[in-house]
Amino acid sequence: MTDTAKSARIQPFSAPKGVPDYVPPTSADFHAVRSTFETVIHNSGYGHIELPVFEETGLFARGVGESTDVVSKEMYTFNDRGGRSVTLRPEGTAGVMRAVIEHNLDRGQLPVKLTYSGPFFRYERPQAGRYRQLQQVGVEAIGVDDPALDAEVVCLADRCYRALGLTGYRLELTSLGDSTCRPEYRRKLQDFLFALPLDEETRRRAEINPLRVLDDKRPEIREMLDDAPLMPDHLSPEAREHFETVTGLLDDMGVEYTLNPRLVRGLDYYTKTCFEFVHDGLGAQSGIGGGGRYDGLMAQLGGQDLSGIGFGLGVDRTLLALEAEGVSATEGRRVDIYGVPMGHEAKRRLAVVIDRLRRAGVSADMAYGDRGLKGAMKGADRAGARYALVMGEQELADGTVVLRDLTTRDQHEVSLEDVVLTVRSALGVVPR
Ligand code: HAM
Repeated sequence: MTDTAKSARIQPFSAPKGVPDYVPPTSADFHAVRSTFETVIHNSGYGHIELPVFEETGLFARGVGESTDVVSKEMYTFNDRGGRSVTLRPEGTAGVMRAVIEHNLDRGQLPVKLTYSGPFFRYERPQAGRYRQLQQVGVEAIGVDDPALDAEVVCLADRCYRALGLTGYRLELTSLGDSTCRPEYRRKLQDFLFALPLDEETRRRAEINPLRVLDDKRPEIREMLDDAPLMPDHLSPEAREHFETVTGLLDDMGVEYTLNPRLVRGLDYYTKTCFEFVHDGLGAQSGIGGGGRYDGLMAQLGGQDLSGIGFGLGVDRTLLALEAEGVSATEGRRVDIYGVPMGHEAKRRLAVVIDRLRRAGVSADMAYGDRGLKGAMKGADRAGARYALVMGEQELADGTVVLRDLTTRDQHEVSLEDVVLTVRSALGVVPR
């Protein structure tokens, strides 16, 4: 038996449970979602921050909160070979804070506006839209407690989804109060909860973080919570004014939202403005993004007492939301131009034309290997190209190429000198 035959019997590997792969053609949409988010965010003055994928475990325990599911049940934590406890980042905000403090970014111009994207890790029970490796694009605007900044951040998230053509989502918004009113509200809520016949675990949760109980999905608990005191009814005048300025600005910007006084997020650091984008086409895992303000986080991580606000947009779930709406971020297009050479010499010549197009900013690919006209045209279709550039013996002799519109099937000859200009104008690319 040959080595290849032997290896054919080896069981192939699969990706770890709950970890999605993105391969063509879906990967083009994945990439388009992420880069659309990044472009919209960069246009609003956010600088890029590249963070480590793992950090000291204590950072998340202290930053995200010991009582959260994320910290208590879902972290990928292990000792490295030096015996230090490290954790694969479950979210981005704590790491950004750590880096801002470590590099003294909070001692310069404020607010510090940063954006990041990449994978995060949560050991959750996998299901549709809930993964153990999830992808986010996020922003954090740190150091200024200004409701206008809250409005910018919320509006920015909305613009990210709109830029993709997504429409079937709603923005839920509330205020979680601040140090002038949250402690008193917390006591009121606890008094209410402790008077209920709660099971042991829920009672414990009410002791550690009573707000989380409001998020309980069990119908028998929900029923008991109908008359629970709600934060928006107990805001101090300062916190109320802050929130009303935010909603007023969102109204002026034309950002639609629904007030949800029971909105609770899965991370402990939130104060004041808090929001979530929910898509109804996704089933149980309907949160496509969310965020909020966090007053005490920086001080809690050993930095100055500065506030911040940010969001994390879920790339995986946004992709599912686009699918649910039947919208494609790329319309299946991998490239605009596809080269179809007939014969060896034409291939050499066309490869140079394709390179010239790419250098001129046109996305282009071509058929490789010895494929006939039919096979190569199929390649153009699969790439979702708008035009094919066909070169056979005649065109080779004439120093031309045939530009074929793959939708209308119209075609005409173009000289090799003019091909870049002609293609760019056919695609509507503005000349440089
Ligand atoms: P988060 O709500 O935990 O917030 O996550 C943000 C988004 O990531 C969610 O709305 C969801 O779309 C996506 N996501 C979360 N977990 C999963 C999962 N298991 N599978 C697929 N997608 C998931 C944060 O992480 C905060 N750091 C956001 C933030 C930034 N707040 C302030 N600044």
